[in-house]
Amino acid sequence: MVTQSTVILGTGSYTPERILTNEELSKMVETSDEWIRTRSGIKERRIAAPGESTSDMAVHAARAALTDAGLLASDIDLLVVATITPDLPLPAAACIIQHKLGMRTNAACFDINAACSGFIYGIDTACAMLTSGRYHKALVIGAEKLSAIVDWKERTTCVLFGDGAGAVVIGCSDQPNIGLIGSRLGAYGESVDLLCIPKGGSDSPATPESIAAGDHFMRMKGKEVFKLAVRAMDEAARDILEQYSLHADQISLVIPHQANLRIIEAISKYLELPMDRFFVNVDRYGNTSAASVPIALDEARKSGRIKPGDITLLVAFGAGLTYGSALIRW
Ligand code: UT7
Repeated sequence: MVTQSTVILGTGSYTPERILTNEELSKMVETSDEWIRTRSGIKERRIAAPGESTSDMAVHAARAALTDAGLLASDIDLLVVATITPDLPLPAAACIIQHKLGMRTNAACFDINAACSGFIYGIDTACAMLTSGRYHKALVIGAEKLSAIVDWKERTTCVLFGDGAGAVVIGCSDQPNIGLIGSRLGAYGESVDLLCIPKGGSDSPATPESIAAGDHFMRMKGKEVFKLAVRAMDEAARDILEQYSLHADQISLVIPHQANLRIIEAISKYLELPMDRFFVNVDRYGNTSAASVPIALDEARKSGRIKPGDITLLVAFGAGLTYGSALIRW
């Protein structure tokens, strides 16, 4: 078969049962439901159960996506996992997930670290590998246990993040102009320090002092990230629309990274596209980094917000600062 297109065959998502509300958080750090809601739009987030790992959540989402696609784990020959919170620093979460899913051993398995843009980087990579003709069925997962890298004493970050996973199964089609139309990826590497885990990498391995200072947790300059996020997402969306000669009005639904409702509202204003064309679930899950776009995509599909023939725009930004956009025709 001549591969003309790469199409999404199924989607799935999983979020842990435990809900952490703003009210509860306001008993843990000096904050309030009112501050969190008005500054970020978040009302609650999900937190992994004790012992529940990133790979466990990924496996739940992957199984749901495989069932939706009518495929078995043994049908997959390419597994791409977007995460900044793998179970272990080494090896890749993908290998742990491969084993838990019971996938075959001659499947390519690797992780992508592009933070909150990771899922878009992941589908772009998988689609390119499928189009090469050397792979046939890909599973792309975004999964995060951010509760493990958040400093629960630091109110400027801990109120924003949550745990979860989303997944898609991608296959090939000989039908032209459907599925992943194209994508636009990039990064502002000069802004690494705006959002990072300062210590614990090979450049400065963890020490008792760095741990006491909390430098193994995520640190963020929120205001600067906000400004760059709006710029990066707006540019990534505009560039891809221009590249494929589309007008924003032709997009039925935008699935933006769910970091902050105010960021999504700013993109809506800049693109002159009303908020009812944007899928929003940041109120229920907070920011789940690489899991955010695939969870939203799965919920959008399953709630009937995506119909055959629709064009969906995915757009995200994250630590790095990375950004990415992708167009999908259904
Ligand atoms: O995937 C990428 C991840 N990162 C992001 O998307 C983050 C992007 N940035 C943001 O979403 C926003 O910048 C925040 C939600 C993080 C903060 O909103 P902001 O409107 O930029 O607030 P701010 O940082 O300017 O802080 C305003 C005030 C400060 O007090 P003063 O200096 O005005 O007295 C903060 O100390 O709010 C204070 N503050 C809080 N108050 C209550 C900061 N965090 C909290 C908190 N509760 N949790």
